[in-house]
Amino acid sequence: MAVDVLLGLQWGDEGKGKIVDVLAPKYQVVARFQGGPNAGHTLEFDGFKHVLHQIPSGIFRQDVQNIIGNGVVLDPIIFKKEIDGLAKYNLNVLENLEVSKKASIILPTHRLLDAAYEKAKGDAKIGSTLKGIGPTYTDKISRQGLRVGDMISPNFKAKYDALVARHKAVLDVYHFEYDLTAAEADFFEAVEFMKQFRLVDSEYSVNHALTAGKTILAEGAQGSLLDVDFGSYPFVTSSNTISAGACTGLGVAPKNIGEVYGIFKAYATRVGSGPFPTELMDEVGERMRQEGREFGSTTGRPRRCGWIDLPALKYAMMINGVTQLVMMKADVLNIFEEIEVCVAYKLPDGTITEQLPYDMTDTIVEPVYETLKGWNCSLEGLRTFESLPAELTGYINFLEEKLGLPINFISTGPDRDECVLKGALA
Ligand code: GDP
Ligand code: IMO
Ligand code: MG
Repeated sequence: MAVDVLLGLQWGDEGKGKIVDVLAPKYQVVARFQGGPNAGHTLEFDGFKHVLHQIPSGIFRQDVQNIIGNGVVLDPIIFKKEIDGLAKYNLNVLENLEVSKKASIILPTHRLLDAAYEKAKGDAKIGSTLKGIGPTYTDKISRQGLRVGDMISPNFKAKYDALVARHKAVLDVYHFEYDLTAAEADFFEAVEFMKQFRLVDSEYSVNHALTAGKTILAEGAQGSLLDVDFGSYPFVTSSNTISAGACTGLGVAPKNIGEVYGIFKAYATRVGSGPFPTELMDEVGERMRQEGREFGSTTGRPRRCGWIDLPALKYAMMINGVTQLVMMKADVLNIFEEIEVCVAYKLPDGTITEQLPYDMTDTIVEPVYETLKGWNCSLEGLRTFESLPAELTGYINFLEEKLGLPINFISTGPDRDECVLKGALA
């Protein structure tokens, strides 16, 4: 068996949570491999709407083993809140959830550092979710971070104090004012709370599951255009969000990666700062935001909206080795008479290209659009590809031809049931 990877091909919030939830019955293990509580993955079913931040989106399926992998940065306080929030669903989280001992811990001071760095950047701020992601990954890479496995060490408090002392020295340099008392109390309470969970060497869990022939789905967070290496740096997150991240974030050998599901919206959104060539600053963008309820699942911030960007999508498909495409939120485009598709970029010197420039902040590209006719009708109740309006199947065919891969799954609403399957998915 292989590990299949599901990830976002744009700037996050593509609808990954919904698809993981839909696919989860076909999998025995669902594992997060990077990111942390900057993620907000929404699931809707039976009239419930639930947003998960760190816990994998397979948690609502009783037979699925969920794993928070070593590549994740985990905030114990948010973990406890998330578990408390799941109580009403009567899930067996103590049994169905494992946390890697090698996952990094987000301390309250990491969040303060995030805020201090962003404040110091002024207008050049990243637009971080301020969950402490960047500073925690910084400490991991600079080899001074704390890991979940340290929680059960007798030296945990001493290690914590040493790291916090370093953080405080940095915060002083930034003249950043804070009061840690409440957050520290919550932190140590949450650390105690976490000790009742299965804290494991999750690379063994994953590889033993592989050997046993189990089906495994790796759940990406953020999106490929926020990847620390390939995204619109520096306006990115601090992890490798691409399929390669599943190898390092779970301890899976490259030869054991199977399908790579690339999730994308029928248009594009971005939250936070950074280049976004197809962004619509006008009434069309506002209608998209309202129709798509494009407000952040983690921070509530309005998402920037624009037309689909094929050069960026092709780039993401290339670095991920996408084998299956999933298109989300087709229903949001119901309201438009015409739909624009960015098929290339015009560079400042007039060159037309499909290649992303090194830095889209310095090199301002102008999208080259092709216009397609919209379908202008509701998709409610439509469950087969054949029943979709001709303009929508035309849009799908157009994208498939440009992207060179079939779009086997089309999502037409937030609920688990609102989807159209064109080909076999898993
Ligand atoms: P994720 O971070 O990739 O899991 O995506 P989010 O949960 O942050 O954002 C996706 C939003 O779109 C959520 O509010 C979902 O409930 C919603 N959603 C998912 N699929 C569809 C769809 O096909 N149509 C509509 N209208 N909403 C959808
Ligand atoms: P999901 O998994 C959308 C964005 C932030 C900011 C940048 C860096 O729900 O798709 P960070 O907090 O990582 O320092 O922020 O990345 N960002 C996301 N945007 N969806 C997400 O996750 C995101 N996680 C981070 O808005 O621009
Ligand atoms: Mg999200």
